[in-house]
Amino acid sequence: MTQEDLFKNIIAHAKEYGFIFPSSDIYDGLGAVYDYGQNGVELKNNIKKYWWDSLVRMYDNITGLDSAVFMHPKVWEASGHVSAFNDPLIDNKDSKKRYRADVLLEDYIAKLEEKINKEVVKGKKRFAEAFDEEQFRATNPNVLREKEKIDSVRGKMVKALNDNDLEGLRQLIVDCGIACPVSGTKNWTEVRKFNLMFSTKLGSTEDGASQIYLRPETAQGIFVNFLNVQKSGRMKIPFGIAQIGKAFRNEIVARQFIFRMREFEQMEMQFFVKPGEEMKWYQYWKDMRLRWHLSLGLGENMYRYHDHDKLAHYANAACDIEFQFPFGFKELEGIHSRTDFDLSRHEEYSGRKLRYFDPETNESYIPYVVETSIGLDRTFLSVLSASYREETLEDGETRVVLRIPPVLAPVKLAVFPLIKKDGLPEVAHEILKALRLEHHCLYDEKDSIGKRYRRMDAIGTPYCITVDHQTLEDKTVTLRDRDTMLQDRVAIDSLSGILDKKLNSKYWLEKLV
Ligand code: GAP
Repeated sequence: MTQEDLFKNIIAHAKEYGFIFPSSDIYDGLGAVYDYGQNGVELKNNIKKYWWDSLVRMYDNITGLDSAVFMHPKVWEASGHVSAFNDPLIDNKDSKKRYRADVLLEDYIAKLEEKINKEVVKGKKRFAEAFDEEQFRATNPNVLREKEKIDSVRGKMVKALNDNDLEGLRQLIVDCGIACPVSGTKNWTEVRKFNLMFSTKLGSTEDGASQIYLRPETAQGIFVNFLNVQKSGRMKIPFGIAQIGKAFRNEIVARQFIFRMREFEQMEMQFFVKPGEEMKWYQYWKDMRLRWHLSLGLGENMYRYHDHDKLAHYANAACDIEFQFPFGFKELEGIHSRTDFDLSRHEEYSGRKLRYFDPETNESYIPYVVETSIGLDRTFLSVLSASYREETLEDGETRVVLRIPPVLAPVKLAVFPLIKKDGLPEVAHEILKALRLEHHCLYDEKDSIGKRYRRMDAIGTPYCITVDHQTLEDKTVTLRDRDTMLQDRVAIDSLSGILDKKLNSKYWLEKLV
């Protein structure tokens, strides 16, 4: 199966099993906007909780916040979003399709990288045991030629983006011979800038109403509350403020399902530090955030760092943690050293002092900020896509299973009576009543036991408990493991303890301390 087909299957599965629906589905959907169904919302809430607990609960010096989506319009002037939150867009005159100029160039670079990878595969075949990949990449003329092209295109693109050189960007697209994927022609318009913020009106009358924006990031709500939290919480630097919430961007190139949405959620943490110490903390959070991802157990090879060549106007260092989605390695989380840019600008635009008084040195200063910013929906997609498996079993049957990390699974347990009589449903209900105090559980008595297991595999339920006739005799049940499909006979009294060890988030969070 190609990666494209696999991705289509994942999207169809997400709809069929109540994870994700297109928004306003009965009206044929709304571009790049999605709703989370009964299982989706559980998975999403579990991701939020795991992120929140790993920061706000595990650190004395990190605290939470929930700021409003609407903010004073001056916030976005101060932050630079009104003047600089733009994408460079280019249209193909024949297909009338619109693209982000930098995305066209990134896709072109990805194709060159693909060529290099093919050369490496050929080399491996040719030299077999004697193959030394590092040496091959450093010396093979075809690889070196493509690499030189990549460096040159990337260098020119970064320079044009940094210099705001729209004509330079267009020329680079022309020079690379990039064709529109739809029309196949190279008939391009000029490159233009397009602001990504949604605006609306606050107030009842047209005349008196003021234009405001839907926030394009949650971070600014943290910056404008920096002193409120610091003073009311008596926080000492270094300290962090974490927030989870909706963000809105009028994305032009909206594609790849929930990867790039117009309404999405971010989980952001701004860590306020003493000026001069930002690089130490940047490195700390770069390491810690990767550890958080790895703690989920989706596979070390699924993540990589990408250090930014082009730094945003506010940053002095930045990197992404990329994830191997079915459509390739793409950004999942950003870690940015944002200097004192945001707080200084808010001081300037609000006329209020946003300084920290350090009681140890008797100095006041504007703190520097290291930000960790992760997309909740992208994390959801990373978990969903890495967990999805179409498996052929030993008896030749097939199953679709979501091997979701148990701590995140939407439903943790299902309880089944083997059959719908002989008092088995009553016992199953008793077990359910006790276990649902600790975990999100489901009860199911319809269809054969095999079909019930398949339904639970398809939504990623890690454990199924079956009550059978032996239960009535010795108060034991079978406990089935989703991944191994093995069934253990265990005492009803021991269920709570066994399941706690497998499902309690403390056994996952302890990997982070
Ligand atoms: N405060 C910094 C900030 O917003 P960003 O790199 O623009 O930085 C951070 O966004 C994260 O938010 C990204 O790494 C990504 O996971 C997520 N994100 C950004 N735009 C998104 C979109 N249109 N749809 C879904 N997630 C998005």
